[in-house]
Amino acid sequence: ESALRDSPFCQTVEIHAELGSTNDRARELIATEATLPALIVADRQTAGRGRGANRWWASDGALTFSIALDAAARGLTTAQHGLLSLATAVAIVEAVRTTTGRAAGVKWPNDVLLAGRKLAGVLIESPRPGRLVIGVGVNVANRFDGAPDDVRARATSLAGSGTTRQAVLAAFLSAFDARLTQLAAGDPQLIDAARAACVLKGEIVTLRDGERETTGACRGLAEDGALLIESDAKVASYYAGVIARSGER
Ligand code: BTN
Repeated sequence: ESALRDSPFCQTVEIHAELGSTNDRARELIATEATLPALIVADRQTAGRGRGANRWWASDGALTFSIALDAAARGLTTAQHGLLSLATAVAIVEAVRTTTGRAAGVKWPNDVLLAGRKLAGVLIESPRPGRLVIGVGVNVANRFDGAPDDVRARATSLAGSGTTRQAVLAAFLSAFDARLTQLAAGDPQLIDAARAACVLKGEIVTLRDGERETTGACRGLAEDGALLIESDAKVASYYAGVIARSGER
């Protein structure tokens, strides 16, 4: 595919019919000093991982891939790694818009929702200093008939929109390249796009980070990508955690 040949993320490309986890394969490529950036795509994963202890559940038809990157080679400093999850989520939203015309949104820090349901997830890891694995799962052609109840209630896909995994991947790679360049340059267009796509703004959210829980009204995103939550008449910035409750179904 020419979209892959021309992409700056494809110095090494692997396309697998089946893998445990594309993130695990990306870590192996980093460990064995493969030429980076590398793109690893799997038609299906048997042990897809999610954030924290979550599994990534997906039936056949989901787009699952990982990119292995040398951060410095892309001009990214360690301080910018925090915004990487937003950059990834924003690029997924753009890929969905380009390929289907649908308006998805970002649930901080890196879930992508469509009509309140989970469309895509991102798992970013750093197996060693300066090396990044960006794992992306997008529900494209998959349906949830045989899925566990909680997945069926909360997930959605692009099935029926007429797009394909290849088209979404190509659109993502091009959008992500542009967003990474903005991130490295400190270009405010990145945070502007993340703010415009933020679905939590104005909602009452509960953020859980280890033992700590904060509930309040989400005031959107700070310049540095932090989540702003107002509670007890004060607005504070949060850099880590998961949204335990929000308007999401
Ligand atoms: C989440 O929603 O918690 C993150 C899900 C991330 C899933 C993707 S699928 C491709 C890559 N390989 C994995 O094992 N996980 C990520």
